[in-house]
Amino acid sequence: MKPSPSAKDQALWGGRFAAAPDQLVQDYTKSVQYDWRLWRADIFGSLAHARMLREIGVLTVSEFRAIERGLREIFAEIEAGVFQWDAAREDVHMNIEAALTAKTPAGAKLHTGRSRNDQVATDLRLWVKNSIAADGDAIRALQRALVALARKYQQVILPGYTHLQRAQPVYFAHHLLAYVEMLARDAGRLADCQRRADVLPLGAGALAGSTIPLRRERVAKLLGFAAVTPNSLDAVSDRDFIVEYAAASALLAVHLSRLAEDLVLWSSAEFNFIRIGDAFTTGSSLMPQKKNPDVAELARGKAGRVIGNLVALLTLVKGLPMSYNRDLQEDKERLFDTVDTVRATLTVLAAMLGDTRVNAAACARAVADPLLLATDVADWLVNQGVPFRRAHEVVGKAVAISEQRRVPLDKLPLTVWKKLHPACNASLKKIFNVSAALDRRQMTGAPGRQQVAAQLRRWEKILP
Ligand code: ARG
Repeated sequence: MKPSPSAKDQALWGGRFAAAPDQLVQDYTKSVQYDWRLWRADIFGSLAHARMLREIGVLTVSEFRAIERGLREIFAEIEAGVFQWDAAREDVHMNIEAALTAKTPAGAKLHTGRSRNDQVATDLRLWVKNSIAADGDAIRALQRALVALARKYQQVILPGYTHLQRAQPVYFAHHLLAYVEMLARDAGRLADCQRRADVLPLGAGALAGSTIPLRRERVAKLLGFAAVTPNSLDAVSDRDFIVEYAAASALLAVHLSRLAEDLVLWSSAEFNFIRIGDAFTTGSSLMPQKKNPDVAELARGKAGRVIGNLVALLTLVKGLPMSYNRDLQEDKERLFDTVDTVRATLTVLAAMLGDTRVNAAACARAVADPLLLATDVADWLVNQGVPFRRAHEVVGKAVAISEQRRVPLDKLPLTVWKKLHPACNASLKKIFNVSAALDRRQMTGAPGRQQVAAQLRRWEKILP
């Protein structure tokens, strides 16, 4: 026989139930072990709701004061780490409300016109808005680290790659600034998501609003929301803002993974373009000589779980009937894990870049490959009036000859060039100067010296 509900259970679940939930059910449904993280938002939301309840006469001034005092005490207890979270009270909302009611009988009036459905949606939106602001700071810190490293090694040129084959020379700074651009788009997407999260669901009740004349706009103002949700069914079941946040974060994680991949490649003996500081690498338990870029590898690997979280969230909402369904409780761990993972990755990569040196000599050796300027020779022929397709063919043949004869392209005798095309003359040889080659690239967005310097200045201004 089931035990009859205790006074505490009655307080939690009301009078409907003759039995407390089975222990298995309690264990299966509880969420306080992770949703406690919403506590700040939950208390702010309750303070605003209580103030509005006083203004419409549901709470007396003294009841409101008691609630306000109680919530502030709970805030301080949680902050100090002394608050007793009770798994039997299921979630963060029930824990805080029960603790409040234990402090003051007025606590029993706080939930007037409110459901946990609009409450949790409100808490989540507050949490997400705040979290995205912190992401913005972390993204800017990584951008600053990239710009600082680019500035420090402004003169370094390395091969730019396509298909991971050496293609054309670029400044190292240009390569790093490519990531600064990607991160700027990530910050933009997050800010956009933040705007859509900035709508107050409270007042939607369980799904159908309330018969009590709640002043939703007033609560929105108190909590700093730009607007109130216009549809109560949508308000309690909408998790688009979390999906969007997870999607923007997944793309951000993908960008971080690409950066990490470049760092892994560059720090290998095969490239040897950078040396990551000892404090940001690890050894091997077996091979004494090893110095592994584990941080970068984990940054690459963690993109997988962030993408997984997005897929989990999309799958979570895809089959939900209108309106709130308990499935939605599963959004939180995916959200928190995404935020924690991306934030930690941003932070550690920024610190690691601050402890990374560039091996200018190895970059210079790699970029000395004359084949990187084959396209410049074709362009030179175009300037002599040769159609580009013809010029492409001429240089392609020269490359084949240089490979056959094992003579570097820039050392191929002029007579060979002249035989390939009569427009070739002595000034063709001047093309094989990497620094001059970069000076020729003067369009907006090109890796020319002045262009890169201008982009560096632009970013230093944007990211003081
Ligand atoms: N813990 C729940 C969640 O995260 C709160 C809302 C519960 N609502 C309900 N009617 N059981 O979604």
